[in-house]
Amino acid sequence: MDFYHKPVLLNECIGNLNIKPDGTYVDGTLGGAGHSEEIYKRLEETGILLGIDQDEEALAASRERLEAVGGKGKLILVKGNFRNIGDICNEYGIRQVDGVLLDIGVSSHQFDEAGRGFSYKKDAPLDMRMDRSQELNAEIIVNEYAENALKEVIRKYGEEKWASRIAEFIVRSRQKGRIKSTVELAEIIKAAIPAAARREGPHPAKRTFQALRIEVNDELGALKEALESSISLLKPGGRICVITFHSLEDRIVKTVLKEKAQPCTCPKEFPACMCGKSAQIRILTRKPITAAPEEIEENPRSRSAKLRVAEKI
Ligand SMILES: C[S@@+](CC[C@H](N)C(=O)[O-])C[C@H]1O[C@@H](n2cnc3c(N)ncnc32)[C@H](O)[C@@H]1O
Repeated sequence: MDFYHKPVLLNECIGNLNIKPDGTYVDGTLGGAGHSEEIYKRLEETGILLGIDQDEEALAASRERLEAVGGKGKLILVKGNFRNIGDICNEYGIRQVDGVLLDIGVSSHQFDEAGRGFSYKKDAPLDMRMDRSQELNAEIIVNEYAENALKEVIRKYGEEKWASRIAEFIVRSRQKGRIKSTVELAEIIKAAIPAAARREGPHPAKRTFQALRIEVNDELGALKEALESSISLLKPGGRICVITFHSLEDRIVKTVLKEKAQPCTCPKEFPACMCGKSAQIRILTRKPITAAPEEIEENPRSRSAKLRVAEKI
């Protein structure tokens, strides 16, 4: 299967995962298995790679690619949401792991495949589901959310200052009939943003499309849950590597890692700890790792990537 996705910050992830040949690793965002292939190659018979993706196509492509590697370790590939990483591991008898990788977002394959409806540049039905078995899609949000709810999604997840006008234009347009396609929606968004504002910055539909994608897939909620579960799953010395592509995601990663790295917060004069907190992880990246200029030149998608790494105490 042709599944194009160039892994981002590959060497940085593999180096930071500190892979042990007999270790257990979870790739929560298998995608095209670009990162997983490098993990799998390094495992011996006693090593385990558990790969998760909610997209059937990604799983099929990964299976093909990983089986061709001829790795020695045990390979487990599961269709699921990484927010359930703890339960999925449990199902396979995995109680603790040596490393977790999360490479958040959509794959280039999903983005480029017109039929998936992720891109405002390609005409397609409004879909944007990574997991095509779920009910909620972008068409339902655009046509059925109340104007205020729509505005909030676009403002919060798109950080779009014209959210109010965009929501108003969408609601006005859908009164004439359901908005069905990506290009139709992109035109409505374009009309809502004043010409002068359209001239600066990215494509006028970029932020709204990002917002809808986040809402359809509950991307931020899933990320927060996955981070917490992954940290609990790690063995002492185990590592978590998380790559994000926009500030909303990076803020969640930064906040959760900081919270879990926080020791007791009781005032010094307390004779004993009252808060019950202890640091669970050590943050290994005070500042996120970003792509080198050569990688950005070769793969422009890596420009906005940020990798944060932490180690279980
Ligand atoms: C950026 S791609 C990963 C690419 C992969 N690291 C590679 O190098 O080929 C992200 C993948 O994660 C999947 N994904 C996103 N959110 C997910 C979630 N909540 N649960 C499971 N998979 C998810 C997407 O379907 C997509 O295939």
